[in-house]
Amino acid sequence: MPSSTKLPRRISLTQYLVEQQREHGRIQPPLRLLIEVVARACKRIAIAVNKGALGDVLGSTDQSNVQGEVVKKLDVIANEVLVEANEWGGHLAAMASEEMDSIHVVPNRYPQGEFLLLFDPLDGSSNIDVNVSIGTIFSVLRKVGHGRGVSEEDFLQPGKHQAAAGYCVYGPQTTLVLTVGDGVAMFTLDRETGSWVLTEDQVKIPQDTREFAINMSNMRHWAEPVRRYIDECLAGQEGPRGGDFNMRWVASMVADVHRILTRGGIFLYPWDKRDPGKPGKLRLLYEANPMAMLVEQAGGMASNGAQRILDIVPTRLHERASVILGSRNEVERVTSYHRG
Ligand code: AHG
Ligand code: MN
Ligand code: MN
Repeated sequence: MPSSTKLPRRISLTQYLVEQQREHGRIQPPLRLLIEVVARACKRIAIAVNKGALGDVLGSTDQSNVQGEVVKKLDVIANEVLVEANEWGGHLAAMASEEMDSIHVVPNRYPQGEFLLLFDPLDGSSNIDVNVSIGTIFSVLRKVGHGRGVSEEDFLQPGKHQAAAGYCVYGPQTTLVLTVGDGVAMFTLDRETGSWVLTEDQVKIPQDTREFAINMSNMRHWAEPVRRYIDECLAGQEGPRGGDFNMRWVASMVADVHRILTRGGIFLYPWDKRDPGKPGKLRLLYEANPMAMLVEQAGGMASNGAQRILDIVPTRLHERASVILGSRNEVERVTSYHRG
């Protein structure tokens, strides 16, 4: 008997989205288009990232952004790619980005859609020049009011209203991780065919973990509950947890969250005493919220210590948040220390 010539069934991002639309009624064509456009933009960013020094994309510009951080060349490139790709398709009303002070309304010459797109164009900027994994994070909201007008207020919705969220990690592989509210799916970029191939569906984060991620250099600034949690982990076998813990800190939230979605773990970027008026370092609308939605969709938990991240009602576009997310039982433990 000749061996079968049947090709292995490969599901593309397009097919996944069509099935989400057709079989599950989860998404409508404009949202499908939006996600495909974002995924295409990420492909372009991945190409720029891979070129590195050959593409003159490394290093900084002489500008700083609205958060007072030095802007890297790749921050600007990624931002431009995402804005240009998304403004003409008719699926969006406006965009917001870590690298833009205020919202970018779709120009009048293009039709206006019902969605709002928010992104961190390049996450992990300090890792660009040292060839460590970086990424793009995005969040999709529905514009609540009708009519053509759109303002910053339209973006100030709690994360639980996100229609979709995801990130792309530019690492040894380029992986797009997506949720449209029906679990979490991972797509790997096949560079030979240029398509995103479904490589993991219904991702689940283990409930328990023995691995934490936090920037330990800030230890002296932490609040008591975080200090207690990490001290107990560090005490290992002889301590109250009765076991040894491992630590990882990539300093790219995308890479740390990707590890947690893959094998479990807990990630903390908590409030600290350095700047007590600031809730944390990470931005709520385009870092904490999309990651919280992905983590919850994968069975994990995401909290700021006092409440579920997805319930926080934002008051400003570039608002920050304290972030504790990952394996459910560990996040639950840290939040219980905050209650105590
Ligand atoms: P960005 O590059 O978009 O500004 O984000 C960097 C963030 C996040 O990706 C990471 O977890 C954290 O900053 C790293 O902070 P430290 O420099 O304190 O390690
Ligand atoms: Mn970031
Ligand atoms: Mn960034």
